[in-house]
Amino acid sequence: MENILIEKQDAIAIVTINRPTKLNALNKATIQELNDAFKSLNEDKSVKAIIVIGSGEKAFVAGADISEFANFSVKEGGKLAAEGQRLLFDFVQNLSTPVIAAVNGFALGGGLELAMSCHFRVASDNAKMGLPEVTLGVIPGYGGTQRLAQLVGKGRAMEMIMTAGMIDAETAKNYGLVNHVVAQAELLDFTKGIATKITKNSSVAIAKAIQAVNANYTDGVNGYQIEIENFGFCFGTEDFKEGTTAFLEKRKAEFPGK
Ligand code: COA
Repeated sequence: MENILIEKQDAIAIVTINRPTKLNALNKATIQELNDAFKSLNEDKSVKAIIVIGSGEKAFVAGADISEFANFSVKEGGKLAAEGQRLLFDFVQNLSTPVIAAVNGFALGGGLELAMSCHFRVASDNAKMGLPEVTLGVIPGYGGTQRLAQLVGKGRAMEMIMTAGMIDAETAKNYGLVNHVVAQAELLDFTKGIATKITKNSSVAIAKAIQAVNANYTDGVNGYQIEIENFGFCFGTEDFKEGTTAFLEKRKAEFPGK
């Protein structure tokens, strides 16, 4: 991988987007590498949580790589959005393994869209977030118009998209866009702490919960029905047997992840 780094620490994988001289902007190659990485980490049963972060101290991701699409036609523009959503943004949102964005600086355009595709977000106190696409004469194309409105509400999303302004980490927390704000030096350890808690729980149940929560945001799908199906599914898993047995035996569960 040329543009990303993957490090495993116990049951946690840390994916670092590593183009610091371009503020980790997402070019085509990086999107493909991220797809490959998420796919293989999701298949690796020893990985129970994934953290995504940008390299350096300045940026999480400063957007899609503008130099790559500046000369695109209408058709190429549409394809760029469709391919990106398929390979990365929808892919991450629907991953069975929990993905946490550690937003360590600028998260703009595709960068904020990537953070919003993750299951939740933690930010450093220097982070700045926005969707500046209209300053380039285009709109967010990696799910930003949909996910920002889901996370912060329609009015705030409209204002952020129309003004192209950046919000700071505290405002993002007030908006519900990020769950926590911590000092930059503590960001990774703090996020790893949350990830570690996740890794102790049933990965099978977590995967089913992700699917059920996402169902609420999927057209034509009845989330309550998915919840009923996934709830029932859990009763047939080894994790359920272990979780309930451990509770009754007054010990900590050791989930097999099956
Ligand atoms: N695509 C391609 N390259 C980008 C980029 C992007 N989205 N964002 C930053 N870069 C590059 C810059 O071109 C520059 O490269 P260079 O040194 O080869 O000229 C390098 O990253 C550093 O960026 P620079 O603009 O010099 O840093 P800054 O501290 O002055 O400003 C930002 C930081 C984030 C405010 C500014 O880079 C910016 O506005 N980036 C674009 C944000 C954007 O519109 N994203 C949405 C894209 S759809």
